[in-house]
Amino acid sequence: MNELNSLVDSAHKLFSAAPTVTDLENAKAQFLGKSGRITELMKGLATLPVEEKKSRGAAVHAAKVAIEGALGTRRAELAQAALDKQLAAEALDVTLPGRTVGGGGLHPVSITMERIESIFSSMGFSVAQGPEIESDWFNFTALNTPEDHPARSMHDTFYVQGESGGAPLLLRTHTSPMQIRHAVAHVKRHRGRLDAGQGMPEIRVIAPGRTYRVDSDATHSPMFHQCEGLWVGEAISFKDLKVSFTDFCRTFFESDDLVLRFRPSFFPFTEPSAEIDIQFQSGPLAGRWLEVAGSGQVHPNVIRNMGLDPEHFMGFAFGMGPDRLTMLRYGVSDLRLFFDGDLRFLNQF
Ligand code: PHE
Repeated sequence: MNELNSLVDSAHKLFSAAPTVTDLENAKAQFLGKSGRITELMKGLATLPVEEKKSRGAAVHAAKVAIEGALGTRRAELAQAALDKQLAAEALDVTLPGRTVGGGGLHPVSITMERIESIFSSMGFSVAQGPEIESDWFNFTALNTPEDHPARSMHDTFYVQGESGGAPLLLRTHTSPMQIRHAVAHVKRHRGRLDAGQGMPEIRVIAPGRTYRVDSDATHSPMFHQCEGLWVGEAISFKDLKVSFTDFCRTFFESDDLVLRFRPSFFPFTEPSAEIDIQFQSGPLAGRWLEVAGSGQVHPNVIRNMGLDPEHFMGFAFGMGPDRLTMLRYGVSDLRLFFDGDLRFLNQF
């Protein structure tokens, strides 16, 4: 192998061994740089006689072209390797499922509330909302429960600083204050007709919402829900209560295989009063009496506090527990699950 061949050969070896572009450029300088081997050989040509210069020149040039070729090949290899590395690092698995925003859903008690509202709406009831911070007057006194009445002790609650019209403020213990609020507004709207002896459109309303009591165990929570019902007209009797509440329960639980019991009870604001129990005739709860609401004919004193004459107006009221209804409908045994906010539980509805 002559000298030029071995020069090309060593350039080849050096280039192929260069691990990085910098190493390659340094190796290149040894051959093609200002004082590189090829450059030196080129310079040396000047001193040769013409004939020799021609042939020697051609040979050196060929060696130069071969070395440049080897350099180009290695540059391309290194560039490709760098690209491959980058592609591998930025690899994207297009088969991975995308990150989606989880779909929200209604809380089970909200589902029950909407269900109650739609069933009673279909029976001609309107839906009213009222304050959760209530005055002692609406929560108790107007509902025939004066300050010294023993029934108040069953409704221990949370008092709030301040007062309304001289009455202390509290977190309402039931939705019954809405009976008074709604009826008073209704009567006010129809005062003219009433005074002219033309009667008044019936009051037919439900009032769902949050209520509060000092109570906490597997079936009681300090905050819970109620839905009040009120139907007052000139001849709305206990029979109407039985019919509409029975209809409601059968529609709500999607079962005609359901019987109701009106068990005598006491509430200061109704007379007579009854607890409403239901019993499924089949299914996991069959045979047990389950309490779902308090109810009764609106007490004459309450009719009076609504601004109506009890000699001409009568009706019924009930107050049911949507939390309890939700537990029965879905077979949930601990009320607290509804308020823990555990998504593993809530996702099931
Ligand atoms: N407010 C009563 C309670 O919370 C329920 C009720 C409402 C009873 C309406 C009779 C009429 O226990």
